[in-house]
Amino acid sequence: MSTTAGGARQQADQERRRGGFSSRRVFILAAIGSAVGLGNIWRFPYVAYENGGGAFVVPYLVALLTAGIPFLLLDYAIGHRHRGSAPLSFARLRRGTEGLGWWQVGICFVIAVYYAAVIAWALRYTFFSLDESWGADPEGFFFGEFLQAGDVRVTADVVPGVLVPLALVWLAVLVIMALGVQRGIGAVSLVFIPLLVLAFAALVVQALLLPGAAGGLDALFTPDWSALTSAPVWAAAFGQIFFSLSIGFGIMITYASYVGRREDMIGSGLVVGFSNSGFELLAGIGVFAALGFMAQAGGVAVGEVASDGIGLAFIAFPTIISEAPAGALLGVLFFGSLVIAGITSLVSVLEVVISAVRDKLDTGRLAATLVVGVPAAVLSLVLFSTTSGIYVLDVVDHFVNQYGILVVALISMLVVAWALRALTGLGEHLNVHGRPRVGTGWRVLTSLVAPAGLAVVLVFALQDDLSAPYEDYPGWLLLVLGWGLVVALPLVGFLVARLPWRAGTHLDGPPPGADPATPVSATAAAEPPPGNRPGTGQDEGGPR
Ligand code: ALA
Repeated sequence: MSTTAGGARQQADQERRRGGFSSRRVFILAAIGSAVGLGNIWRFPYVAYENGGGAFVVPYLVALLTAGIPFLLLDYAIGHRHRGSAPLSFARLRRGTEGLGWWQVGICFVIAVYYAAVIAWALRYTFFSLDESWGADPEGFFFGEFLQAGDVRVTADVVPGVLVPLALVWLAVLVIMALGVQRGIGAVSLVFIPLLVLAFAALVVQALLLPGAAGGLDALFTPDWSALTSAPVWAAAFGQIFFSLSIGFGIMITYASYVGRREDMIGSGLVVGFSNSGFELLAGIGVFAALGFMAQAGGVAVGEVASDGIGLAFIAFPTIISEAPAGALLGVLFFGSLVIAGITSLVSVLEVVISAVRDKLDTGRLAATLVVGVPAAVLSLVLFSTTSGIYVLDVVDHFVNQYGILVVALISMLVVAWALRALTGLGEHLNVHGRPRVGTGWRVLTSLVAPAGLAVVLVFALQDDLSAPYEDYPGWLLLVLGWGLVVALPLVGFLVARLPWRAGTHLDGPPPGADPATPVSATAAAEPPPGNRPGTGQDEGGPR
């Protein structure tokens, strides 16, 4: 047996153990599930409203087409060609860059820990909607009775009303993760994504029928063309696209590594990118129609009731649900959609960590799920089922999003494009089976336009955070859980990268069979038998 054939067989073996999606359709649904999350439902509508309304479509589309989709394709190319988790794919791209992958893994671990808490709140609110448990004061209820939020200090006072749903969320998610890429993530996406579209479409129809809905849509879509000359508006568009598309923090690299080698990754990227934006538009219509109703009912302008994030979901929406006809239905549809969209994003975030642990240590699926999931769940329960949970969540979310995701995305993009000069090879890889083909335009967008867009977003974010403490939180909290965490993540990432890989891991360059340049005999050997290879849904040869 030649060394190449031996390496190819070993690679095939490793791919068989990693598992994969059974088809391109399942991958696309899983990728849409990852992209469509809290960012689409509670962030996009307000970002659009605040940044020019109807005119925001211009910077948004520019950001999507010049940075979002090109960078999404870069993530796909790295994962699909190098066939590994983020650290393994970076290590194969160039050994010294493995730390970038672990940095992304660290970010995903942190995001998973708090993202689960928001899903747990939404789960509880789905049931609260049935009898409008918040009574006449949704704000007081959310902070007081529900979260029992006290002063801004870290406490150990447990809130059972959060502990129980949070434990349930973690249990459900860990079962999905333990089942594997196809039987867990793929199967959940196949059911949840159509369900999410149906539930949200029903919500939009109900919201549009509410009195005052037209006023809300007017407020959202009336264009303020002067916004187009404002740099922060453009920064908001680029920031929204990166978080919303789940790019730059390892998710799409990981998912792409589970797709059959002969699939069209370019077409898939276009479907995922436009579906995500379509859902954002739908969310904007649903949310602002409901806010229009709330404004009319209260006799105030839409601007006075418009908000995003926690304020929109847990304060404005309960108010709308209490006042709207068939409010319970609206509540179940809204919070149910948040839960579904949140779970399909959370599993993608966790998969980044689990697949990295599996690749590095050669552990089985179940073992890796427990090694990652149990500490994440315990940390999540300890931090977010106590009376200080909301402050911790707000600070960590703000800093990890602004300076975690965006900085690692910017640096990895620059490293791949300029230090490794890998774009040509990655583009050729995409073009083997992908259409429409990518070429010089894609390389220019990925190496120049996307990094420039990200850099502008970062400059504005830094300006804000350095001019005043974020939300007036105490300095120690911002220092430890904000700046401290943001600095610790890359340090830990590059330290973990120094640990050895399990014996026999193919590093240095794409694995055998990944590129058309690889000898045909090796390619044939690298492709495991049908029905037992990534892309055919065989999962990981059972838990070990
Ligand atoms: N893309 C996911 C979201 O929008 C993470 O929430």
